[in-house]
Amino acid sequence: MAVEMQGVSKGFKGLVANNKVDFRLLKGSIHGLLGENGAGKTTLMNILFGLYQPDEGEIFVDGSKVTIDKPSKAMDLGIGMVHQHFMLVKPLSVTQNIMLGLPSKKGPFLDTANVETALLELARKYHLMINPKALIKNLSVGEQQRVEILSVLYRGAEILILDEPTAVLTPQETKELFNILKLMRDDGKAVVLISHKLEEIINICDEVTVLRDGCRVANEKISCETTKSHLTNMMVGREVLFDFKDRSSDFGPDRLVVENLTLVNEKKLSILNGINFSIRAGEILGLAGVDGNGQKELCEVLTGLKTVSSGKIALDGQELTGKKTKDFITEGIAHIPEDRHKTGLAMGLDISSNLIIKEFNGPRFSTKGLLDFKAIKDNAERLLKEYMIKASGIEAKAKDLSGGNQQKIILAREISSSPRVIIANQPTRGLDIGATMYVREKLIEQRDKGVSVLLISADLEEILQLSDRIAVIYDGQIKGILDNKNVSIEEIGLLMAGVESGAGQCKK
Ligand SMILES: Nc1ncnc2c1ncn2[C@@H]1O[C@H](COP(=O)(O)OP(=O)(O)OP(=O)(O)O)[C@@H](O)[C@H]1O
Ligand SMILES: [Mg+2]
Repeated sequence: MAVEMQGVSKGFKGLVANNKVDFRLLKGSIHGLLGENGAGKTTLMNILFGLYQPDEGEIFVDGSKVTIDKPSKAMDLGIGMVHQHFMLVKPLSVTQNIMLGLPSKKGPFLDTANVETALLELARKYHLMINPKALIKNLSVGEQQRVEILSVLYRGAEILILDEPTAVLTPQETKELFNILKLMRDDGKAVVLISHKLEEIINICDEVTVLRDGCRVANEKISCETTKSHLTNMMVGREVLFDFKDRSSDFGPDRLVVENLTLVNEKKLSILNGINFSIRAGEILGLAGVDGNGQKELCEVLTGLKTVSSGKIALDGQELTGKKTKDFITEGIAHIPEDRHKTGLAMGLDISSNLIIKEFNGPRFSTKGLLDFKAIKDNAERLLKEYMIKASGIEAKAKDLSGGNQQKIILAREISSSPRVIIANQPTRGLDIGATMYVREKLIEQRDKGVSVLLISADLEEILQLSDRIAVIYDGQIKGILDNKNVSIEEIGLLMAGVESGAGQCKK
């Protein structure tokens, strides 16, 4: 047994995040930790990593009772954790990052050469393809994650905790990560994998523990017979429907029209390269593509966060090109951003403030320049209930919410703002299965009300399920726009790889 947590409880200001949880982690196994948003998964693992102290309960590592009062203690005990938001220093190299905070074997002198050799050896052993000399700022998200894993292994971890590692990875990167985790398991290490993607739990885990409302409700071995609906049932305590009603075809006129959009970055590289499309009122246009092909920048120009280098953006016939972000907001373009920490929320503010942050001086929440506190409070209480946001109350700060509940705050704010257009970038990332279905229904409901939705998602199933038409982006260009009637995943996959629609010719 690598770890045993017994009767662990943790409360935050009257909210019980963990309630007498038992958790047993075996050596040489990958252990899935499942539960709805706010169920207490991250809290339990933060306790094991020494970030929080439990209110009650005991922890045993390798059979001995331990007190883990800080992360450095956890690391001494061979426990490493990779958080969803990486803690790397961008301008420094891989090796420099890994050496940070570690004593040098050469006293006051840095031992870079030896560390680099050791890193290369570890990287070879676990197939973590990484150049130790590379600067973090030049690495993709998947590569940065590998650096975090390498760092934990370098510190001698026998127990590795990964909190939703695949939420930010492409399918290919996920496959590579899982191969690494399997090598670690075969090497006798213990891995905890937190994920909302049930196929992942079924495919790679040997065992699963399920939390609900802070309590452990199940612990089972994963077998060939384990199904998604069985896991969902244990998590939610009820069935969750995966099907949607038929798509309507009641479209209005063109609403959001973009013509020949181009964007050139500071390094004179062309990021968007002549983008053309239109979305009708009452239509969801899905945008499929491998991450990093211009999706993020397209969202930024469509919400006024960046100005295009050339081209035209028009909303209901009115040109918005060159206008400021606040004009895009007042014209009714809602934005669900990919990175909720950077652009979605004010982390230090409470829930009720975050819910009105974009229109606090609008008529809904102020009169004659004075804030209407009752309206603000009513709004927060209504949305908290409607979106099933789990928190100690509307005064809870955004930074204290679980990842999924932070995402729900953004969704609630943007969808409730009566938008004309919703630019939704990975709207269900980090959400549990029930919340995911709820958000998808909400997007359909908005579409049926005549809103135009641009849906960007790494999840092709989600795109196929919700979109009326599907555009595929590759290298800053739209490679094809398909009617979502009899599209196949294969067809989209080809376009995602840069193969032109119909022509069947590879450009590269
Ligand atoms: N530092 C904190 N202060 C106050 N409340 C907190 C704090 N950390 C967590 N909580 C609360 O504890 C509960 C459990 O949160 P936790 O982050 O463990 O959930 P989770 O299972 O990881 O959810 P998700 O899937 O959304 O990430 C949530 O209701 C959250 O708001
Ligand atoms: Mg969490």
